[in-house]
Amino acid sequence: MRRLESVPDKAIEVRELRKSYGPVEAVRGISFEVLRGEVFGLLGPNGAGKTTTVEILEGYRERSAGDVSVLGFDPQRADLDLKQRVGVVLQTMGFYPNATVRESVEHIASFYPHPRDVPETIALVGLEGHQDKRARHLSGGQRRRLDLALALVGDPELIFLDEPTTGFDPAARRAAWSVIRRLQELDKTVLLTTHYLDEAQELADRVAIIKDGLIIASGPPSELTPESASYRVSYDEDGRRVEIETDDPTELLHRLTSEALDRGERLENLTVARPTLEDVYLELTAEEESAAVTPESVVT
Ligand SMILES: Nc1ncnc2c1ncn2[C@@H]1O[C@H](COP(=O)(O)OP(=O)(O)OP(=O)(O)O)[C@@H](O)[C@H]1O
Ligand SMILES: [Mg+2]
Repeated sequence: MRRLESVPDKAIEVRELRKSYGPVEAVRGISFEVLRGEVFGLLGPNGAGKTTTVEILEGYRERSAGDVSVLGFDPQRADLDLKQRVGVVLQTMGFYPNATVRESVEHIASFYPHPRDVPETIALVGLEGHQDKRARHLSGGQRRRLDLALALVGDPELIFLDEPTTGFDPAARRAAWSVIRRLQELDKTVLLTTHYLDEAQELADRVAIIKDGLIIASGPPSELTPESASYRVSYDEDGRRVEIETDDPTELLHRLTSEALDRGERLENLTVARPTLEDVYLELTAEEESAAVTPESVVT
């Protein structure tokens, strides 16, 4: 396995990455790049290979084949300089259950040459009222906030966030989004996995959708368009929702509203929507699933 040449504008480069666990081939040859200063989202169903990929990039797992470069380093070589420039939120975090929030954050800060201020980091994730609480006494969402604090306290230039907001209440998710946006403003690079597609749409400059160990689509969220029509016009009529898909909402709206006005009616709850990333994601991943589950394979 050759180390890729370091290219300054790329924080991460992955070429034909493969990972097998015994007979299970979890990652089957994926390639992508993350530019410096970019927020990149890795999306995909459970078991797609996201955590495997992220943990290889973090240096927690060894790859079976392919080339990987993280800030110009091979993460498998566990270079201290690389570790000090990277922050990590693992999908399942192993922290010290008996340490308090402040002790945990101070401990991680001590590994970094220029850490952030500890109380400020705790406040950033909204745990300022829980500094003296032991980690094992935190709620699920509070533990996840602690994970985020531990990833940020070293003030790293590259941050890996594997499902960072799972278990967050809606307000905490929005707060975490603003933390991630702040990282973006500071020109940090973020590799994020999430099952919340609104989160990816909101935060990611580019996403890759991974399924069964392969990338099936990638690009900026707004450019991932489904094959179906690109606008959906909806309104209520006789107590039911009418939905019409169209490429030309101007013409359609003109016709619908003229006809309604001629009848002396209003189009109730009229909306025009672009497909969301979630629509695209479901369309792409469902296509593959419906191909995999043939009628003959369904046991009745
Ligand atoms: N340590 C391991 N040993 C054996 N198989 C593993 C191991 N870790 C992951 N796998 C398998 O590899 C595949 C990919 O798992 P991975 O955790 O990368 O998926 P994921 O995309 O992160 O899923 P999720 O959305 O559920 O977190 C799965 O089939 C999983 O069962
Ligand atoms: Mg995972």
